[in-house]
Amino acid sequence: MSSYEARFKVWRGDVGGGDLQDFRVEVNDGEVVLDIIHRLQATQAPDLAVRWNCKAGKCGSCSAEINGRPRLMCMTRMSVFTREETITVTPLRAFPVVRDLVTDVGFNYEKARQVPAFVPPEGVGPGEYRMMQEDVDRSQEFRKCIECFLCQDTCHVVRDHEENKPAFAGPRFLMRVAELDMHPLDAAAESGLDRKRTAQDEHGLGYCNITKCCTEVCPEGIKITDNALIPLKERAVDRKYDPLVWLGSKIRRR
Ligand code: SF4
Ligand code: F3S
Ligand code: FES
Repeated sequence: MSSYEARFKVWRGDVGGGDLQDFRVEVNDGEVVLDIIHRLQATQAPDLAVRWNCKAGKCGSCSAEINGRPRLMCMTRMSVFTREETITVTPLRAFPVVRDLVTDVGFNYEKARQVPAFVPPEGVGPGEYRMMQEDVDRSQEFRKCIECFLCQDTCHVVRDHEENKPAFAGPRFLMRVAELDMHPLDAAAESGLDRKRTAQDEHGLGYCNITKCCTEVCPEGIKITDNALIPLKERAVDRKYDPLVWLGSKIRRR
């Protein structure tokens, strides 16, 4: 097994401020960035705060920015960097820091709560749902989400504009709205909930200008923009310019 000493810069601090700290640390074959962070905790910085759980790319906890790019620390192999490179690890920039590499991702839980749940169709019991396989496949892609919030962190709409946060759900939760809106058994419309309208008016779909940065960082390879956001935009526009919807709204206003 070969090993070498890597140069790391790790952000240390809390809500009051902080700075990058330099470390030199051993790296062995096959290791990932999270291994190195754990070695730092074991040998040089026992109080370094980091959130992680599965070390298998499935819990979505170890999100951070590595050389400025939002990534999972447990799925970022050290072999993608050269031995001479200095590797910088910083907390997710779009969310408030708690300490060191740990951020408060509560924004995402608030946004999750704002998306009304699937409405079961009347008269059809659990186990009796029937759907076309292509509809199942469509939702299943979105269901691979591990809630790492890397897409939420990278989207410039909130990353660079804190003031947009109240009005914008972010790619992860617009994808959830899209999933429910495409679901053939969702009975939201029957109960008066128009998901296309809420996507625009309550979840800020119009803020997304299809930069696709969210898709680029998704560790599950979900095509967030092409398969969720663009179709949702198309459906919302269709609804807006549908002559029957237009006529209905005029009649209702009388
Ligand atoms: Fe993470 Fe992808 Fe889910 Fe976004 S959609 S939270 S990047 S797994
Ligand atoms: Fe943001 Fe993704 Fe749209 S990065 S702008 S939500 S395509
Ligand atoms: Fe679970 Fe990295 S530790 S995704």
